[in-house]
Amino acid sequence: MRKLRILVTGANGMLGQRIIEFYSANKNVELLGSSFEEKSVIDGIPYISLDLTDKKAVKKVVTEFYPDVIIHTAAYTNVDKCESDKEAAYSTNVNAVEYLAKYGKITQAKIIHLSTDYVFDGNSGPYTEEDRPEPIGYYGRTKLAGENALKASGVKHAVIRTNVLYGVARHGRQDFVKWVVNSLKDEKPIRIVNDQINNPTFIDDLVSAISGIIEFDKSGVYNIGGSEFLNRYQFTLRIADYFGLDKSFISEITTAELNQPAPRPLKSGLVILKAETELGYKPRTIEESLSLMRKELQL
Ligand SMILES: NC(=O)c1ccc[n+]([C@@H]2O[C@H](COP(=O)([O-])OP(=O)(O)OC[C@H]3O[C@@H](n4cnc5c(N)ncnc54)[C@H](OP(=O)(O)O)[C@@H]3O)[C@@H](O)[C@H]2O)c1
Repeated sequence: MRKLRILVTGANGMLGQRIIEFYSANKNVELLGSSFEEKSVIDGIPYISLDLTDKKAVKKVVTEFYPDVIIHTAAYTNVDKCESDKEAAYSTNVNAVEYLAKYGKITQAKIIHLSTDYVFDGNSGPYTEEDRPEPIGYYGRTKLAGENALKASGVKHAVIRTNVLYGVARHGRQDFVKWVVNSLKDEKPIRIVNDQINNPTFIDDLVSAISGIIEFDKSGVYNIGGSEFLNRYQFTLRIADYFGLDKSFISEITTAELNQPAPRPLKSGLVILKAETELGYKPRTIEESLSLMRKELQL
């Protein structure tokens, strides 16, 4: 049987590395990971260093590997830096998508594109797939433009909008849960916003949704989020409770007090009914997810 060829962009990123771990165990898949860096953070997998803003390099990799599916997780994800580094953000979040779409269309690949709740303004969440995007910051504007570039290209594609990822990602920057746990263990005071509402997404649930989209050959937009809506301060208290850490180091603040360069959607979060219905998506509870993190990371 011919193997399914999957190219993963952003393979060294928080989500990408977990997708690589998941598919490298599947004998029916021929996998190729790619990211900016020279080497893969995961040993022993086929990997190629690729700057996605280099059109010729994208052409070479896509037309030589000839993927059936491109899981596009790479992005310029630093929301605040997007405000001051607009050209780089645009070329990564929009031009790179255009290149993948152009050459993916030639190989008849399907692109599974990762997007965000930051395409919304955060005035009236949680949002469904049908709600009208209205980004308030440059990151959200480029991510929406990336979605639109895919639509305009005519390549086969599915867009997954997700929010606040957390989970087992051993390499690179810490996710929110590890940061909270490590800060509290070190008895460092942390100030957490109480006015940003989301349904945080466990990375392994997102990976299962991606695999469902591939398996059921779905197209269009899918929201993928967690099972509960709560603000970031409440999420932090749940993490502290679960790991038995001292909550007196956690204090509440508002987003405005942080004075960050990029505005944040406040009342956000993603309604996941479509994914539950069409993909059989069933996110774990927060405590189930934290329990898996504790087991795998010895937190
Ligand atoms: N994390 C979240 O909470 C969240 C929420 C909603 C949506 N999303 C979306 O989900 C996706 C995955 O997020 P993530 O948190 O896993 O991101 P991440 O950890 O920042 O990983 C992104 C990866 O893309 C790489 N990359 C950036 N520009 C590139 C380029 N021009 N060429 C090749 N590689 C490039 C980065 O390399 P460097 O590290 O070297 O730059 C990094 O390894 C993104 O599309 C993001 O927009 C994430």
